[in-house]
Amino acid sequence: MADICAEDKKMKYHYNDFTIFYSVSGTGPALVLLHGFLESSAIWNRLIPELSDRYTVIILDLPGHGKSETIDEIHSMELLAEVVNNLLGHLEIETVGMVGHSMGGYVALAFAELFPRKLAGLVLLNSTAVADSKERKENRTRALRLLEMDKKSFIGMAISNLFTEETRLLFPTEIESLKIAAYSFPNKGIMANIKGMRDRKDRTHILKQLTAKKWIIAGTKDPIVPLSQIKLLSAATHTPLYTVKGSHMSWLENEEEIVKIMLFIDFFDI
Ligand code: MLT
Repeated sequence: MADICAEDKKMKYHYNDFTIFYSVSGTGPALVLLHGFLESSAIWNRLIPELSDRYTVIILDLPGHGKSETIDEIHSMELLAEVVNNLLGHLEIETVGMVGHSMGGYVALAFAELFPRKLAGLVLLNSTAVADSKERKENRTRALRLLEMDKKSFIGMAISNLFTEETRLLFPTEIESLKIAAYSFPNKGIMANIKGMRDRKDRTHILKQLTAKKWIIAGTKDPIVPLSQIKLLSAATHTPLYTVKGSHMSWLENEEEIVKIMLFIDFFDI
């Protein structure tokens, strides 16, 4: 079984002077998969074999994650979307379906705002269009301090918090692998991404107005993106909602179901 942290087969290109690692697999219309905070493109390793018969699957380590370099003090969601767009230019790809897990969903929404004509379909996976609440912004600022004081504790806690008590017991090896991989991410990059998430704007209106196809996939017990909030978002933006059992890491907890939904969804009317 593919390792969710194995970083092999990556290619690199340069966004300005910064190295970004990515990979392309399969044939068919282009599907971009964007990982979340403290993850890397390797989270998609197990899903790619299932999707690459239907799609050309493009994954990348977002700046400050995996092996990609940090490119600024703050990685705004707009900047990260610009990096994704730049990679698509490099690959000469004009239209894509896009799946964003959590922070990857925030980036996908910024992409939808900046490059709407390039987006055929969007899936927010355990993600939201809503901005951080005041309390959540304060937590992010506290997280920046904790990271500076004790990186290992911060990463350990941040990754554990993505799971519920129940799901934590089901995936001890994978959780440990995610933590070990994230320990190697540069502090500067982690900080830049925390600041980018904290300062991101609300994009409910972008999701509502999006003419591309759109879906939300939510975990019934997601501790980061509560299902109650997502139901409201789905209704307010007319975005169909799939719910799957589990917490924030549906790509891991519900691998088969996520693949089925991805294959069922018709990003390109094919
Ligand atoms: C993620 O999984 O990308 C983050 O937990 C999202 C967030 O903190 O808002």
